[in-house]
Amino acid sequence: MEKLIFEKSVVGRKAYTLPKAKLEEYSTRKLLPEKYHRKRELNLPELSEVEVARHFVKLSKLNYCIEDNVYPLGSCTMKYNPKVNEKIASFDGFANLHPHLDDEDCQGALQLMYELGEALKKITGFTGITLQPASGSQGELTGLLLIRAYHLDRGDTKRRKILIPDSAHGTNPASSTIAGFEVVTIKSDTDGRVNLDELKKYCDETTAGFMLTNPNTCGLFEKNILEISKTIHDCGGLMYMDGANLNALLGVVYPVDMGFDCMHFNLHKTFSTPHGGGGPGSGPVCVNEKLEPYLPIPQITFDGNKYHLNYDLPKSIGKLHAFFGNFLVFVRAYAYILINGTEGLKKVSQTSIVNANYLLSKLKEAYHQPFKEYCMHEFLITGDNQKKFGVTTKDIAKRILDFGFYAPTIYFPLIVHEAMLVEPTETETKERLDDFASILLQIAKEAETNPEILLTAPHNTPVRRVDDARAARFVNVNYFKGETKG
Ligand SMILES: Cc1ncc(COP(=O)(O)O)c(C=O)c1O
Repeated sequence: MEKLIFEKSVVGRKAYTLPKAKLEEYSTRKLLPEKYHRKRELNLPELSEVEVARHFVKLSKLNYCIEDNVYPLGSCTMKYNPKVNEKIASFDGFANLHPHLDDEDCQGALQLMYELGEALKKITGFTGITLQPASGSQGELTGLLLIRAYHLDRGDTKRRKILIPDSAHGTNPASSTIAGFEVVTIKSDTDGRVNLDELKKYCDETTAGFMLTNPNTCGLFEKNILEISKTIHDCGGLMYMDGANLNALLGVVYPVDMGFDCMHFNLHKTFSTPHGGGGPGSGPVCVNEKLEPYLPIPQITFDGNKYHLNYDLPKSIGKLHAFFGNFLVFVRAYAYILINGTEGLKKVSQTSIVNANYLLSKLKEAYHQPFKEYCMHEFLITGDNQKKFGVTTKDIAKRILDFGFYAPTIYFPLIVHEAMLVEPTETETKERLDDFASILLQIAKEAETNPEILLTAPHNTPVRRVDDARAARFVNVNYFKGETKG
């Protein structure tokens, strides 16, 4: 087990020495009142510079990242993020801009945000946009607040219900509740799609809207989308699209043509910026004319000559984020859009669908496939075939780690027993997909011949199997002299 940095400490060792402060009278000790002075020495580790460097390099090697291997987390779109986007985002003119600059002094940044907004509108067919939300879930909250403002503005105060399919991501009901709505869960059909008869039962004058992910979290396109939208619109509700799965639709389908009134993007998924532990997110929201008056302020406008920040929107829901959102994510996403162009983005989606179907075709004999059809950019298989040998989906996922691959999303969506949601993404090559498939096929055989090896997996990771519930609830990041305290 790697030693903690405090355990490597040797009294008197130093990485470097700082020069003595020249302006003694400005030292914090002099400026701060006595009662705020530190009474004892800080308990910091003492190491040489090379030891510090080695420590952090070792720690970084314990992390898993897309540069290690396939990262097939369904619904998360863990695609490779081109390094050129990182380079562009690190340009001084982007990375060191101060958000309090006058419009006049940050025309380039405003232009970038304006043009990114225009590109996202073009990709989806919508007419209005805000880039502010910092994540998909904050985008959901924004869209729902817009829907609420729309109904209230028309004096339609009875619309308190948001309908959501039972296959939805957990953030959908959570953001609806935060936006003040009552959530009604719509049961899915046996084919993994929205059950129209169920939906119709709950459509009435209290329905504010329907939140739908398309393609849905079972990796399937909602074929009845036009009828679904008509049903919701006929009862006066609005259609919200959770755009987390937009990776399958770029250049192929306009969300606006499916009858959606509003949607969020996950720039950190579809438009390829590092996410998870790797960086901040961004969840812009696009809307049609009905919702435009309520968009957050400021809106970025262009008068043909200069870019401006417009705060004069009397019906706006206000601000969702300090300043304008996560600006450097915009830079990466816009670079990605420009580099790919219209044809390139279409190819992104087509390749993501081909890759998913290729992998599915290799696995569907060994693993149970709950919905027997072609998939979109991700697919569902389950550990049901392996249950009779005493192993679960979780055991399969843990065993995958032994081969240096990340596991798919497991036990989601909730409507599928022992689910594994696999999203290879378009950035994986055929060779890597073949490697991943052969590992999963080997594990299916092991389940039959040597289930113990799955039950005790992972064997090769720095930390063996943990109690997930405890690990999530009682994270301990403190160090106290030789012992750890929770
Ligand atoms: C289908 C779906 N909707 C919404 C979200 C929420 O996005 P974020 O994690 O950016 O808040 C996710 C995230 O994984 C998702 O997969």
